[in-house]
Amino acid sequence: MARSLSELPRLPLFDGPSPLAPLPRLSAALGGRATLWIKREDLLPLAFGGNKLRNLEMLLGAALAEGADCLVTAGRRWSNHCRLTAAAGAVAGLDVHLVLSGPPTDPPNPGRRLDELLGATVHQAVTADRAERDDLFEQVVADLRAAGRRPYPIGVGGGGVVGAAGQVRAAAEVLAQALERSIELDAVVVPSATGATQAGLLAGLRAGGSRASVVGVAVAHPPDELRSTIESLLVELGDLTGVRVDTAEIELDGDWLGPGYGRPTPEASDASRFLARTEGILVDPIYTAKALAGLIAAVRGGRFDRRTVLFWHAGGLPGLFEPLDDGSPAG
Ligand SMILES: Cc1ncc(COP(=O)(O)O)c(C=O)c1O
Repeated sequence: MARSLSELPRLPLFDGPSPLAPLPRLSAALGGRATLWIKREDLLPLAFGGNKLRNLEMLLGAALAEGADCLVTAGRRWSNHCRLTAAAGAVAGLDVHLVLSGPPTDPPNPGRRLDELLGATVHQAVTADRAERDDLFEQVVADLRAAGRRPYPIGVGGGGVVGAAGQVRAAAEVLAQALERSIELDAVVVPSATGATQAGLLAGLRAGGSRASVVGVAVAHPPDELRSTIESLLVELGDLTGVRVDTAEIELDGDWLGPGYGRPTPEASDASRFLARTEGILVDPIYTAKALAGLIAAVRGGRFDRRTVLFWHAGGLPGLFEPLDDGSPAG
């Protein structure tokens, strides 16, 4: 039976909204064609922040409601979701087991060091092969159960409808901020990997009466694949919000993925430099920078002329320090 969003268990991980701020110098440097704003999810307070904390509030709520005593999740070695799961587990008093893709680096890469600093137990695969990591994940869950533990497995990236429900709440938050400042949003531009942020924001904006479009810049999977994931999420979120979103409203920009997930592009690097040098704001190279490249190109191409556009800074800043350019396949 469908449960409404407010009935879902949630573990609050932070207070108050993330900042909503104008980008006057970036807007001016792009010719004043669009009025740009930024939602600073990167400033959410735990462990370098980021959008995944929204998902984790709901996932940890579910884990605690089910009586779990530890969390298991997986990702690439730089995974923001894994780092933030470690942080959330610390807050909740739950042990966290992270299954990371290999190969391990010597010395350990920055992401792994942060995971361990936050108290997570890291199980790292030997290679970057996805099947190997999936097998290791199943093994870790099975070993914990055999030892009498009650693990709560969390899928890669914290995607899925439970995590996406946290993003519905983020949409409600930004609509309240926009109302307070008398801003009418025409569009939101967001990096999209599992699609949970995009789906949750779209569902939440419609539930809150906003007609703003949500443009997802594909950063991990080709748009066709991503579209079908978002379609399913929107159907499931419809049960939670009571609002059905026409799947024709899913807007994807697939032009900025470059050679694939986790691989920087020249356009993304240019976009990050542009934002850094106009507004003093940093973005990570493989998620938010690619979305920023999409936003800047769209503004330059006239797509957002005279529009008010919100850039969703999803976080990921430790990625600036990761040696990513190793040609390994997508997570
Ligand atoms: C910093 C950052 N931005 C954007 C995303 C994409 O969000 P989503 O998986 O909800 O599409 C992720 C994770 O995948 C991320 O870590």
